[in-house]
Amino acid sequence: MSDLELPQGITAADVNGLPAWRIDVPGGRALVYAQGAHVAEWAPAGADEVLWLSEQAVYSPGKAIRGGVPICFPWFGPGRSGDRKPAHGFARTATWRLVGAETDEQAATLRFEITGDDVADLGGFPADFTASYSVQVGKELVLALTVTAGEQPLDFEEALHSYFTVDATGVRIGGLEGAGYLDKVTGTQQVQQGEITFTGETDRVYSSEAPVTMGDDTAGRVIVVDKVASSQTVVWNPWVDKSAAMGDFGDDEWQTMCCVETANCVDGELHLAPGESHTMVSRTSLA
Ligand code: BG6
Repeated sequence: MSDLELPQGITAADVNGLPAWRIDVPGGRALVYAQGAHVAEWAPAGADEVLWLSEQAVYSPGKAIRGGVPICFPWFGPGRSGDRKPAHGFARTATWRLVGAETDEQAATLRFEITGDDVADLGGFPADFTASYSVQVGKELVLALTVTAGEQPLDFEEALHSYFTVDATGVRIGGLEGAGYLDKVTGTQQVQQGEITFTGETDRVYSSEAPVTMGDDTAGRVIVVDKVASSQTVVWNPWVDKSAAMGDFGDDEWQTMCCVETANCVDGELHLAPGESHTMVSRTSLA
């Protein structure tokens, strides 16, 4: 953990055997683990939980938590070469250092950092990078991932892999109408016609900078994800067979979630010159 003095509203805690911080401020509440700087829970004041966490999630050093907002970095899935490990990169299981904790009248912000020195196995990735991540918790959840190259150029992918609590059998995902996408289930390129509804395994990388809405009539709410400097949105629901195949995911849990991920991945991979920085922001709210 960290020696930082924590303002009122932010409390260090051991949750499920892992170091974490609970945030409870006038604007909202959240739970954030040090492993992966992983936001596991978030809700605006007075609202039900917005993020989704599997009841089968495993809380163990080195194992990514199934739900919340895992950080995918510096590659997405198996990476562009198709063979990189661990899946989605090392950031979601690295222990991030808390370097800042602040509050204002409504919100709290935690600031985290990792460099190559914080990661045991970089999988061939250059060590002299810095990744900074700020988590602002209030009426909105504002997540900002800044990557700075060291003395070498840096090529990387990234995603804020947000899991949301929705009725997947009825949710309507808007904002991606007309966008081209890679359908990872069929391996084909497609163009989105109308809103997205889930009728089978869905795993798509959309080329889009637009905000996305999740209209959930069952919950009577609309979740909005707006973003900055992100050229892709990934939409994922594992449906029946893939849910059954995942050890940390309940067989029927696909009905209660979907992922809408703020990303720069696949064709949107980023390239930084030495010393250059890039910041991607994901901003979630209830409409
Ligand atoms: C999504 C990918 O972002 O994450 C899917 O597009 C993948 O292909 C899913 O199955 C979950 O990945 P993981 O590594 O957390 O099981």
